[in-house]
Amino acid sequence: MQLLEERIKKDGQVLGEDVLKVDNFLNHQVDPDLMAAMGEEFYRLFKDAHITKILTVESSGIAPAVLTGLAFHVPVVFARKHKSLTLQDNMYSATVYSYTKKVNNHISISKKFIDENDRVLVIDDFLANGQAVEGLLEIIEQANAQLEGVGIVIEKTFQKGRELLDARGIHVESLARIAAFENGEVVFVEDHQ
Ligand code: G4P
Ligand code: NA
Ligand code: NA
Repeated sequence: MQLLEERIKKDGQVLGEDVLKVDNFLNHQVDPDLMAAMGEEFYRLFKDAHITKILTVESSGIAPAVLTGLAFHVPVVFARKHKSLTLQDNMYSATVYSYTKKVNNHISISKKFIDENDRVLVIDDFLANGQAVEGLLEIIEQANAQLEGVGIVIEKTFQKGRELLDARGIHVESLARIAAFENGEVVFVEDHQ
């Protein structure tokens, strides 16, 4: 997505080997016009899938997920994160390991908000190692809901998340695909080939 790539070039900051800081429009300050444009783009990409619900994880997935829900006119549910696993009868839960932070988080969604009639589109801000998305997929399975696809704002193709999802035959669409960071600059997949 041209608009997003331009914004990443303008405002993204490469930190160390493999992290892109996008605090200016996605992870701290949020640009609602850009979020709305991304929501429309996800709608264009998944409109034939008869989506009934958007799922994400708090907190940074919420902004793009809500604007995607607006484009589809369907509810948006964000999984809540918590440290210790207190299993509850009324919740579906999964464990998510963060490679970046080297901790296990637990995510959960109330059984009230997802069921076997749902056709789900998962939205997240970053696809890195894919652990957050895998956690959501576990919850979707527990609910016997149908996964229709995964929409990602920024994918880093050099980490293993994309490969994991492709191996499971999942329809993944990323609005920006980063092939590498070279000398502190972002190299997108198209430029790379
Ligand atoms: P994974 O979910 O793909 O396995 O990612 P990983 O464990 O490596 O990342 C942990 C957290 O870091 C996630 O946010 C993820 O979105 C975020 N992240 C991964 N790569 C980048 C990056 O290059 N830039 C930025 N800004 N974030 C990145 P989280 O812990 O769930 O936090 P939240 O922001 O959603 O609250
Ligand atoms: Na996230
Ligand atoms: Na994040």
